Formats: sequence, structure tokens, C-alpha cells
Amino acid sequence: AEAIYTIPVVIHVLHQGEAYGEGSNIPLEQVLSQIELLNQDFRRLNSDTTDTREIFKPVAADALIEFALAKRDPEGMPTSGIVRARAGKDSYAIGEEDLLQKVSYWPPDKYLNIWVTNLKSGLLGFAQFPVSDLIGLKPNIANKFLPDGVTIDYEYFGQGFNAKEFSTGRTATHEIGHYLGLRHIWGDGGCGSDDYCSDTPAADRASSSGSCELSKASCGSTDMIENYMDYSPDKCMNIFTKDQKERMRTVLEFSPRRRSL
Ligand code: ARG
Ligand code: ZN
Ligand code: CA
Repeated sequence: AEAIYTIPVVIHVLHQGEAYGEGSNIPLEQVLSQIELLNQDFRRLNSDTTDTREIFKPVAADALIEFALAKRDPEGMPTSGIVRARAGKDSYAIGEEDLLQKVSYWPPDKYLNIWVTNLKSGLLGFAQFPVSDLIGLKPNIANKFLPDGVTIDYEYFGQGFNAKEFSTGRTATHEIGHYLGLRHIWGDGGCGSDDYCSDTPAADRASSSGSCELSKASCGSTDMIENYMDYSPDKCMNIFTKDQKERMRTVLEFSPRRRSL
């Protein structure tokens, strides 16, 4: 049988000095609700698998990847896997991982670093691609000079801690997909742009972030707007495919990132 990979995770809660549980100093329950959703989405145990349309059910995959809050810190001491620290800025933008790293960062070959903080308005999250020629991600795409990890705005982290749309946890699912080598399913271009997965139909553009665009068809086929790597609202997303699974597992097998506790 194929192995289940369990990725040790450290959550860096970089807050603005609020009391525990207030504003960006998010409570433990919000963190746990996100870990729970990741363990559903990457094992195809999510409650909305039945929303995957029949044409796409044959390619749906259990990626056999799980996430666990770290139990030991880099020095080998017991930890909750959550680090709380005061952010160095009011809000962060794409590409500012170097500033996040200065506040808190654990060795990226041993942990998946997730920073949860206040991002500039309109930004839900961002991630670093792995560096691997094997899966078509060249070092010029994967910026190896930026610290490795995933950053999520605190209002879009966890399940149901904010009234906003996009606050049911799929931003982290999407960003960790990038971290594990997945590209957007429309390939960030027209019908000729690829995500290097043959079981995700080519699409001409991102799906709408306003509603589930179930009637969207382009490039000669129905578009898989329910894929986690499209831009649909959280409630429309429910699938990783078999090729996406292979891509993510290849990254875990060939990169120095740790894949077991
Ligand atoms: N725009 C972000 C990105 O490209 C995240 C999109 C997340 N979508 C969602 N439904 N939560 O990485
Ligand atoms: Zn994305
Ligand atoms: Ca494809």
C-alpha cells in the first residue's frame, strides 16, 4: 500500500499585540479547525465530496497526505506547534516572507511553516513553490531565495471564525497545494497554458470568485471549477485529482522537506 505522508506543521501566529483570542491573535480552536479541514481535504474525507460532479468523480483522489501540529520544536523540546509573536508590520504583502521569517521561522526541511497574520487588503494568502525540475517547476519560477512556507490572512484561516466568504478554510488547502507543487488549473494563461496535470481539463481563465460557475466550459470541455486549485469560492471547492496527487507526492519524495513525524 502507498504510504501516508504526515507533514509536521508549525503555525506562526504573528499578531498586532492583541490579547489571546482577539483580532489577529487567533484562538487555538481556529488553528485546530484549519488542521482538521486540511486532514479532510487531502484525504478526500471532506463533507462535500458529494458535490463533485459525476464527470469528475473518476479522477478524484485521496492524496494520502496528513498534517500534524509539531510535537517537538527545533531544539527537541515539547511544543504545541503554535508560536505566538508580535508582527513586525501592520500588514504584509506578497513576497514579504523574508520579513515574516525574521519574526519566526523553523527549519523548512523539517516543518511546514505557516504564517497567520494580517495581510494587505484583498490578499487571502500566498505560498512558495518547491524547487524541483522533475515536475516542471524551474528555479526561476520557484524563488529559492524566499523562505519556504505558506502565509494566510488570519480572517481566512480556519473554519467559520469570520463572517466573510472564503472563511471556511480552503485558502490554506489551495496554498498548500502550491507549496506541494500544484499550479492553478487554468495554467495562469489561456487554453495553451498547462498545469502539467492531464486529468484537470484545460481552462481559458480562472473561475469566478463570486459564485460557483458550474456552467463554465472552455477549451472544448467542462471546466473543473470545483478543484481546490481554481479560484472558486470555498464552498464550491471539493477535489484534488489523481495527477495532482502524484505531483504533490513526487515533490514530497524528491525534496528535502520532511514527510513523517
Ligand atoms: N488568490 C489566492 C492564490 O492564488 C488564493 C485563492 C484561494 N481561494 C479560495 N477559494 N479560498 O493563491
Ligand atoms: Zn493560487
Ligand atoms: Ca490540466
